[in-house]
Amino acid sequence: MILTRRRLLTGTAALGACAALPWRARAAAGAVTLAAAPARVSLVGKGYSETDVWAYGGTVPGPALRFRQGDTARIAFTNGLPEPTTIHWHGLRVPNAMDGVPHLSQTTVPPGGAFHYEFALKDAGTFWYHPHENSARQLARGLTGAFIVEEREPPRVDRDLLWMLGDWRLDKQARLTDDFGHPMDGSHAGRLGNTPTLNGAIVEEVPVRAGERLRLRLVNTANARVFGLDFQGHAPQVIALDGQPVEPHPLQGRLVLAPGQRADLILDLQGKPGERFDVVDSFYPRQTYRLTRLAYGSEAPLRDSPLDAPVRLAPNPLPAPDLAAAVRQDVVIEGGAMGRLPNGMRMTPEGPFWALNGEAPMGHAMKPLITVKRGQTVVMQFVNDTAWWHPMHLHGFPFQVLKRNGAPVARTEWRDTELLPPQGSAEIAFVAEEAGDWMLHCHVLEHQEAGMMAVLRVS
Ligand code: C2O
Ligand code: CU
Repeated sequence: MILTRRRLLTGTAALGACAALPWRARAAAGAVTLAAAPARVSLVGKGYSETDVWAYGGTVPGPALRFRQGDTARIAFTNGLPEPTTIHWHGLRVPNAMDGVPHLSQTTVPPGGAFHYEFALKDAGTFWYHPHENSARQLARGLTGAFIVEEREPPRVDRDLLWMLGDWRLDKQARLTDDFGHPMDGSHAGRLGNTPTLNGAIVEEVPVRAGERLRLRLVNTANARVFGLDFQGHAPQVIALDGQPVEPHPLQGRLVLAPGQRADLILDLQGKPGERFDVVDSFYPRQTYRLTRLAYGSEAPLRDSPLDAPVRLAPNPLPAPDLAAAVRQDVVIEGGAMGRLPNGMRMTPEGPFWALNGEAPMGHAMKPLITVKRGQTVVMQFVNDTAWWHPMHLHGFPFQVLKRNGAPVARTEWRDTELLPPQGSAEIAFVAEEAGDWMLHCHVLEHQEAGMMAVLRVS
């Protein structure tokens, strides 16, 4: 069974090459300018009208901001949207005042307003940026972009490709449906779309050359869709998750990427000239579809056997958790369709639908879930007592995953977003190294806005 997107496409001509991404090159000094504003873009391609979106720099996704580890990012942001916004730098370790959470770390940027973001880049890796005000609507309308911090000594590859995965809910005229905030989405799986995209387009084929080595940076920018990608005929190696290096290892089964998550893969193209291999998303039962296809050109192979060069990335300078001195905090997730809210709370069409430790904040005023001293190691256990998937994202502090469903993880793994399966659990550890109020929330944005958020206070 095939998604609506494919039905939408039936009879239309296949698109050619991978849509070009606007790479923004910058001088070391001086600020990058970034504007958010309404735009019209072609999402579905030939035969369909353009879609009204909100975009950074006029494109979806927005410009990929590229820096090098140790640089200072300076971003002069202007808001050309008809409503207030902010930018959150997802996964980056930034001072609290630069974290972009309205009413918590900054005031919103009003229409016509500006904000200067500036922070040192401690970590190399694949990160991204998006609004944190009215997030479910603003992201669904297209406000996302990649933020890439290059290693001082990156591994040798032939090409470094960015795949921004998106998901749009479009009507037959390729317009965004305006059923934002629908209680059905809020209480179930979030705003799942019908048009998954790669770099803001439907990309039938990604041209590749036999023998080349790619570094593939994948970012899931969707509001709600989890991707489960199978690279048919290929054996990618995973070198980083959520921007943080891991011991390189072959991908086991599908690459599961929840909203907010990233993965860096090394892909050695071992097919033959002229061959084609599908990249299939089969995360949801009975909704398997081809995301795209690796299309080998007819040129002779670039080399006969895979490049013999190391792919291991140097670790980022993350503070090591001191487990012996950790404070522990459980985070129990309740609610959702087929579930119930604790403490006699009632679900209404306006929400809440979800609760974290018995609290279901719907507005901005939140009392901290936990308050810790700066430098404290925190061990947090998530318990998902619901029938739904929840990618839990912590701002400020990449965390080490210790256990999943009670079992220790196979290898050291740092993340900023941990996907909890229905009725699953996970235990994480991190050092609360920066003072301030930091968000912890579900990255299914309709869940976040229906009760799934909390604050970690570091004093
Ligand atoms: Cu990517 Cu609080 O978000
Ligand atoms: Cu959730």
